[in-house]
Amino acid sequence: MLDIADDQAAADLALDDLGWVDRNPDAEDVLELRRYLETNNGIRGLEVFTPDQVEQARDVFYRDGFVVVQDALNSDQLAFLREGVDREIHEIAKRDRHRVGNRGSHRYSFGGASLTGHQMHNPEWAMLIDLPTVTPLLTAIFDSADYISRGGGGDFCLPGAKEYQALHSDMGDRKEFGRLTMGSFRDPRGLLNYRDLPCPYVCCNFLTVDVNEINGATRQIAGTQHSQEPIPTLETEPEWMKLSAVCPAPAGSVMIRDVRAWHGGTPNLSDHVRAIPNSEFYAPWFREPMPKSMPKHIYDTLSEHGKKVCRFIVAENDLAKGYREDLGSGYGKKNKLDQKIA
Ligand SMILES: [Fe+2]
Repeated sequence: MLDIADDQAAADLALDDLGWVDRNPDAEDVLELRRYLETNNGIRGLEVFTPDQVEQARDVFYRDGFVVVQDALNSDQLAFLREGVDREIHEIAKRDRHRVGNRGSHRYSFGGASLTGHQMHNPEWAMLIDLPTVTPLLTAIFDSADYISRGGGGDFCLPGAKEYQALHSDMGDRKEFGRLTMGSFRDPRGLLNYRDLPCPYVCCNFLTVDVNEINGATRQIAGTQHSQEPIPTLETEPEWMKLSAVCPAPAGSVMIRDVRAWHGGTPNLSDHVRAIPNSEFYAPWFREPMPKSMPKHIYDTLSEHGKKVCRFIVAENDLAKGYREDLGSGYGKKNKLDQKIA
């Protein structure tokens, strides 16, 4: 097993040149999978909405467990977000010569790598808290403007992330591991679980590039947000689910997800990085343990609504920022307990 090790050479590489480490983009199996995905990947007839279609987008979100809305970011906001993504991806790549990743090879969670578990110490991510295009959508989904921020990070896959990420949900019922508690909802009567609830937790992933059939689109299985069925493994997942990628969708779009809906990463066999930084929100009636992840000086730049939304994540004192020694990968370095918390 390869360990996390420094890679100072990454600092001088262009963003899109950070991938395909120890992997050959022209290998026969890669060429074959790329051709197959070009022809077969993607949700047929994927609807992409515009920010003014609030009710339609909300209804599709309730139906499918996710919805895509284009033009969530204007060109200046998209350029600003891309700068932040470029900077932070370089910071992460500089720490991982073999591109071990923290979600599989060449695949990373921005939050999982970060000491705070989030990226809300960066202004590019804080911008995602209260966008004029997205706030009305969140207000409609939660049927209230009193939702709260839990932070945000998102993920990226470098070119050469050729494996699928297994389908999963981003939350579960409350579990205790010794003194560590994960999640919050649990019905002591055993009658309900988190999948019975109205949507408690929304993730807004922002597309920083045009997402297509071969560059690592998220696959989403429509209508699974309330499913009580076991989530398939990579071995048992049917082919149609593997091809249920949310594409094509243009850069600047937001993919709003009910995080319970089954989803997973797909191969990035292209020659550019696919990054989807995010902001994450809880319904007004829902809470899970939330680390403080937003410094006061960033919080002070927010709108009044943004400040209210972020009141549980603002840190009055200095935050330890930066990246985990093992990038949250669990390989080679310490902080095993911290990784579980992230
Ligand atoms: Fe996920």
